[in-house]
Amino acid sequence: MTRCDATVAWAALQGHYEAHGRGFDLREAFVRDPQRFAAFSLQAPEVFADLSKNRWDLATRKLLLELARETGLEAHRDAMFAGAPINVTEGRAVLHTALRAPRGAALHGDEVHEVLERMLAFAERMRDIESSGITDIVNIGIGGSDLGPQMVVPALDAYCQPGQRCHFVSNVDGHDIAPVLRRLEARRTLFIVASKTFTTQETMANAAVARAWFLARGGSEHDIARHFVGATTNLQAAAEFGIHTTFGFWDWVGGRYSLWSAIGLPIAIAIGADHFRALLDGAFAMDRHFAEAPLEHNLPAQLGLLDVWYRNFHRFTSRSVAPYHQGLKRLPAYLQQLEMESNGKRVDVDGQPLPYDTSPVVWGEPGTNGQHAYFQMLHQGSEVVPVEFIAVKRPTHEHADLHAKALANCLAQGQALMLGKTSDAALGERAPTASAALDRAVLAQHRSFPGNRPSTTLLLEQLTPRALGALIALYEHRVFTSGAVWGINSFDQWGVELGKALCNNLLPRLVDGPGKGDASGLDSSTAGLLQRLTR
Ligand code: F6P
Repeated sequence: MTRCDATVAWAALQGHYEAHGRGFDLREAFVRDPQRFAAFSLQAPEVFADLSKNRWDLATRKLLLELARETGLEAHRDAMFAGAPINVTEGRAVLHTALRAPRGAALHGDEVHEVLERMLAFAERMRDIESSGITDIVNIGIGGSDLGPQMVVPALDAYCQPGQRCHFVSNVDGHDIAPVLRRLEARRTLFIVASKTFTTQETMANAAVARAWFLARGGSEHDIARHFVGATTNLQAAAEFGIHTTFGFWDWVGGRYSLWSAIGLPIAIAIGADHFRALLDGAFAMDRHFAEAPLEHNLPAQLGLLDVWYRNFHRFTSRSVAPYHQGLKRLPAYLQQLEMESNGKRVDVDGQPLPYDTSPVVWGEPGTNGQHAYFQMLHQGSEVVPVEFIAVKRPTHEHADLHAKALANCLAQGQALMLGKTSDAALGERAPTASAALDRAVLAQHRSFPGNRPSTTLLLEQLTPRALGALIALYEHRVFTSGAVWGINSFDQWGVELGKALCNNLLPRLVDGPGKGDASGLDSSTAGLLQRLTR
């Protein structure tokens, strides 16, 4: 496999960028080609994508597809689906796709479906409030053991049953769990301790707090077994905690790819077994699309390649995600882990430092809230930030007027970013709030928009479990694509280790005891802060 910067396509893309990319103007491109929308839109399972408002043309796309072929994207993808240990630093396969495949359609089918059946049966029992008595489910987990369920449950609120609430506790800061516990009744609460390793500091500490709270409210050790369940690959550690109902998964499921596994238990309780299966089914449909569609029609591959084009040739440093659906309010946070933990790497799979950039910063908020916060910068700031809009055609509420307004805003923002407004156009306008003392030409400069700012729009028919499953899998495979082209391992996360080790060293210096306030061996900044916090 050739590293991307050594390919013929990379060199060609560099030349193409200088000749056509740097000065590319979206407005001119639409005038030149009335078929541009058709040429640059793609239909994948459940997701339609308009890629036409991006700074690329047919030649760019052709070169990017050649880059994918030269860097072995298809072979790498097939190796993932076939269970090869592509997570080389941990010697692990990467098989989250096996979690959503029908029995017999992927590796590990028997073990996957055994846990799935058991988990869904348990979820159905818990959501029967009359017999279970459970009105509140508290998921205690962090990172991949939190962000997926925390994103999906509100997104599928229309499918959740009234009378049962899902809470998510992740942060080791006690201000996360304390207000949740304050509102709960022990006998009506089910705690899910979700941790792949069952060793993560935050999760273990919060689980211990929850356990003590439960016992202090009249629960017995015996009751713990009914009110605490575990989702983990470390069944022994869960048993030592006193948890006897556990749903396992496997080391070939990465944390940030685990919502399809036992980590999805809060989702299954919230939406029920049939809808959980629909979520899996949507993801499976996207898996087939990624595995089988030629790259010319392959949506995750094209999104990933566009990310490479923007990051390495245009040098854009971030991408903003704007879901025009309030249910997707946690999607940007979910994508931050998916993309930045996967592709925030500085060496290639062989450990060689990379001379090119990898993961962009991913950030965002739901529209229209973002419009009243940071969209100013997207329209008139000094940096270009590609924006990704997500719109849903049919709402799951009856307020048609509100929905029309949300959609109009979504389309308008993409239009405004692309079209901009010249200072001449601004000069001809009246601006009621503008200072009368200001020269009109100066004011027009403030009120003009450069335009030519790229965006992608993803359209879903409705935010159903199936559509959401497909959307999430689309993002997973897009991240896979850019990671594969960059030649990095998208499935490890060594970057979180150093902070954990230093935290273990500092903790005894912060708690009551002989070591409290001890600043020996510390740099003067950390020592100064420690002393302020402990004296
Ligand atoms: O932040 C590092 C990380 O390992 C993530 O990749 C993972 O999702 C998270 O911690 C939680 O880990 P666990 O599920 O083992 O508690």
